Amino acid sequence: MLVFVPPHPLIKHWVSVLRNEQTPSMIFRNAMAEIGRLLMYEASRDWLPMVTGEIQSPMGVASVEFIDPREPVAVIPILRAGISRDEETLQPTIYLNKLPDTFPEGSRVFVVDPMLATGGTIVASLQLIKERGVENQQIKVISAVAAPPALQKLSEKFPGLHVYTGIIDPTVNDKGFIIPGLGDAGDRSFG
Ligand code: PRP
Repeated sequence: MLVFVPPHPLIKHWVSVLRNEQTPSMIFRNAMAEIGRLLMYEASRDWLPMVTGEIQSPMGVASVEFIDPREPVAVIPILRAGISRDEETLQPTIYLNKLPDTFPEGSRVFVVDPMLATGGTIVASLQLIKERGVENQQIKVISAVAAPPALQKLSEKFPGLHVYTGIIDPTVNDKGFIIPGLGDAGDRSFG
């Protein structure tokens, strides 16, 4: 498994905004979106299927490269959208699953979750995705903050997976919160 923490000042900056307990919801959501965008930029580098062609610009014909619209790419967000953790057991419960029965062959899949803490949520999510015909090498996980228990589980269960995160924190407490982390991302985003 490859875990990549891009050494980029904008990512470090937005992580510090997320960490700050004074950051209001709206700014918190914006910071999360910015980190997501920056990590997606890194994760999609050399990974999206490109095609070449010619385009008529107002001033002439240009040779261009663009993302091949025939190749399947999926972005799967996990945030209060389908999987929640039981606050006592920390086990994930799936209450909304909008995944297709099978993914088209050769699909490239980005799984986006703000935090990887104990790893229960991301492991359950990846199992659902793999059951639908996607190989580990075809999946990239994007997360603002990750903790060692989640990374450990992912590397054991999904060899070949790629993880892109803004920062790796030292630990998770007995309530399942990343320390120092950024608190409860769902509550801080949506109240
Ligand atoms: C967070 C995060 C993950 C999950 C990670 O969601 O976005 O989905 O918790 O935890 P895990 O690795 O221990 O499974 P959210 O802030 O909504 O958490 P909550 O479900 O605990 O409220």
